[in-house]
Amino acid sequence: MSYIIKIVFITATFININSNPEQFEPRKITILGTGYVGLVTGVCLASFGHEIICADIDSNKIGLLQKNIIPIYEPGLAKLLETAINSKKISFTDNIETSIQNSDIIFIAVGTPMNKAGKTDLTAIEETFEIISENLNKPKLICMKSTVPIGTCKMLKKVLKRKNEHLTEIAFNPEFLKEGSAISDFLEPDRLVLGGSNRSIEILKKIYLPLIKKNVPVLSTDTITAETIKYASNSFLATKISYINEIARLCDVIGADCNVVAQGMGLDKRIGDKFLKAGPGYGGSCFPKDSQELLYISRYHNKPLKILEAVIDTNNSQCQYIFEKFLKLMDNNLENKTIAILGLSFKPNTDDVRYSPAIDFIHNLQKYNCKINAYDPIAIENMRKEIHDINYIDNIEDTCKNVDGIVILTEWQNIKDINLERLVDLVNKPVLFDTRNIINTDLLKKLGYKYTNIGNAKIN
Ligand code: UGA
Repeated sequence: MSYIIKIVFITATFININSNPEQFEPRKITILGTGYVGLVTGVCLASFGHEIICADIDSNKIGLLQKNIIPIYEPGLAKLLETAINSKKISFTDNIETSIQNSDIIFIAVGTPMNKAGKTDLTAIEETFEIISENLNKPKLICMKSTVPIGTCKMLKKVLKRKNEHLTEIAFNPEFLKEGSAISDFLEPDRLVLGGSNRSIEILKKIYLPLIKKNVPVLSTDTITAETIKYASNSFLATKISYINEIARLCDVIGADCNVVAQGMGLDKRIGDKFLKAGPGYGGSCFPKDSQELLYISRYHNKPLKILEAVIDTNNSQCQYIFEKFLKLMDNNLENKTIAILGLSFKPNTDDVRYSPAIDFIHNLQKYNCKINAYDPIAIENMRKEIHDINYIDNIEDTCKNVDGIVILTEWQNIKDINLERLVDLVNKPVLFDTRNIINTDLLKKLGYKYTNIGNAKIN
């Protein structure tokens, strides 16, 4: 077969798509990785009508999912999963090989955590590609969902091409899911970013047709630009947070109220009111890792993002800053005190404690031999794996009993609603540090609390 004929033949056998772009076609899609991103992507694509195989090397996880037990906390996920299972649109397997062979489209959603050197660890991606390469029985579209360093998809495409006779496309379709609101972020996104060849973009557009019909803006581009969009977006949001945290530090000394400053800024549509809440610093599995990776790439190419250097520095020092505020509130007398920590997850509505500000704060308290009572509605088990030697208590009142100080670290709704009047009678001393600015300071004053929050010198 001549070269030209071979190309035509392969093109013809690559995933067929109906010529009518308005017509939905259910696809057989495998999702590799059943973490937050993989599971949410799987159940949401199943809700569109696609046939989804969720695969993971972790047999325990797969065993739980097969019994309809979700190993993570994500509001709304259980209900959608039940619907997908009942309609037979989703299945779970630890047999990665057959899951790859049995689909035309493979989404990759394996972990890309930060290693000790502050770089993205691509071990899971490399292992996944090894298995894909060995099991490519026909041309397929591989769509990367995991956040990977800029240039990764292009490099993987070259490697696959060298190793495999089948014409396989690699696209990058970044996820913009926030833990805690991941389902609505998937089903009502601000935009869809599709990076890849024209052909892979056409296939992805068909997969996402239900969203496109709802007029979700679609940005089609190459994989390098799509990878950069992901890092630049997360780093920009991290920048907003570090910026407002620095403004809050200034407010702490000049007498302005940071909450009102943020409100006044946010009313300007060019600025927007999102991600302008001062607090103990950003945590989670994305912002710390992605800002670090983008900085690394910029330095590597000798175009250092100086703004990002400052953003990361500010975030790294924010925990120490808030700890010193607490020390001051406690009259520099923390030795052997009993402290209640309210909130352990890095933000509300998730059980995730990765890079949670609570970890550093608790370690700081331990340097003063404090006795620590810690409460969180759902993240206790995950935090126990990080820190063993503190008292975990499953309700707010017992957590605050006989303590010398209360520190709020996560803005869970039931922590916002705490009964301050009742707590006055339970604590040893009514001292409260609200690092999320969620408690009514007038009420605290009226009830005789000694208190402080972030970015409001008038109450220091
Ligand atoms: C973030 C992005 O928001 C998602 O768009 C993205 O898809 C995801 O990373 C990812 O790359 O996978 P997530 O890490 O779940 O989502 O959490 P966010 O809601 O963005 O919060 C991150 C951190 O910033 C939290 O510690 C939160 O408390 C803090 N934050 C957020 C503030 O301190 N102030 C704010 O105003 C907003």
